Amino acid sequence: MSINFQFLNITPLAEEFSQTLKKKIQRIFKILHRKRKDLTLVFTNDKHIQVYNRIYLNRDYPTNVLSFGGNHNYLGDVIISVERAREEAEQYKLPFEDYLLALIVHGILHLYNYDHEKGLYAPWLMLKKEIELMEELAENKEPILNFLKRREYMPAKLAVNVDHVATVREARKTYYPDPVHAAVLAELGGADGIVVHLRLDRRHIKERDVEIIREVVKKKLILEMAIDKSLIEFAKRIKPYQVTLVPERVEEITTEGGMELEGRVSEVKKVVKELNQTNIKVSLFLNPELKDLELAKKTGAQIVELHTGMYAEAKTEEERLKELERLERAAHKAKELGFIVHAGHGLNYDNIGPVAAIPEIEEFSIGHSIVGRAIMVGMKEAVREMKELILRARG
Ligand code: PXP
Repeated sequence: MSINFQFLNITPLAEEFSQTLKKKIQRIFKILHRKRKDLTLVFTNDKHIQVYNRIYLNRDYPTNVLSFGGNHNYLGDVIISVERAREEAEQYKLPFEDYLLALIVHGILHLYNYDHEKGLYAPWLMLKKEIELMEELAENKEPILNFLKRREYMPAKLAVNVDHVATVREARKTYYPDPVHAAVLAELGGADGIVVHLRLDRRHIKERDVEIIREVVKKKLILEMAIDKSLIEFAKRIKPYQVTLVPERVEEITTEGGMELEGRVSEVKKVVKELNQTNIKVSLFLNPELKDLELAKKTGAQIVELHTGMYAEAKTEEERLKELERLERAAHKAKELGFIVHAGHGLNYDNIGPVAAIPEIEEFSIGHSIVGRAIMVGMKEAVREMKELILRARG
């Protein structure tokens, strides 16, 4: 049996490291009790793996690992972007050597017909095998095993906010594009929920939009709104799955910060109770602050949505990491307090990865970036791409 390494458009891995990897691959066959077959590993860069991804899988973007099965004597090819592996290892704070090995393990398991994309239990079975192999093979076991075990959480959901489809409509005060159409297409693209913000000034979404979307969406409708008597009456009539309470200032461009709960707990608690009595779940949009979460607990709300705006707007890498850690701490605390944890605001295709890897967060609420991309590639595709990034961050 031969294990063949090819290096395509990249500096080859150090000889000693390559030999160690080959020995570990031999052990994979042994642990899996599989007949040894020839195998080729192609190590390349993002640009090249994108070509393979486009030609063979019709996915025109780079990825970390791809596998192509062979025949009864030849196991197949595993293609790895070393460039991406390095970036992701850094992003997830994992030793590169172990992360690269985890990608190889993942690729080889695909060649043995483990496939996390097919079947209800398939992701779980594949992950179980990955953990079993990495327990044997990793040099620095704890970080990589913790990373893999995080993936055992349910994949996070994506709720798509269609407000800005209405923003385009309102730019000309006409009847198109229709957020109702966008909601239907977002669902077809894989959205787990549709979000609309009925603002006090009705600058984009109108009552009519909420009413029709409520009728046509098959998944859940989430209504964002400020605490306001007539909006509460409207919500009770429409009965969305969930209301997300947000602070609102007429002059703001978008929701600027989380709710200020200091001194308002009893007022918010009353609203939560009133909505809950109509069978509507309530989420509070909060800054990722431990004290706000503790106050939120007193309101009886079931869900908190952590404001990711400060993370999204961080100007330096240092600031971004600080905000990411603040979100991680808040998500952990929120879960500990018994909340269902959501997050949103300012998330886009470039910054979603690290936040989506926070295991306590169950759902992301994303609007502007998806609607922006939908103008270019269509709503279904824009949602599908975002969903894929979220799923990929969890494995
Ligand atoms: N979550 C809340 C509470 C919001 O108010 C908004 C904006 O309406 C979002 C999420 C979505 O933010 P973005 O449009 O930046 O994705």
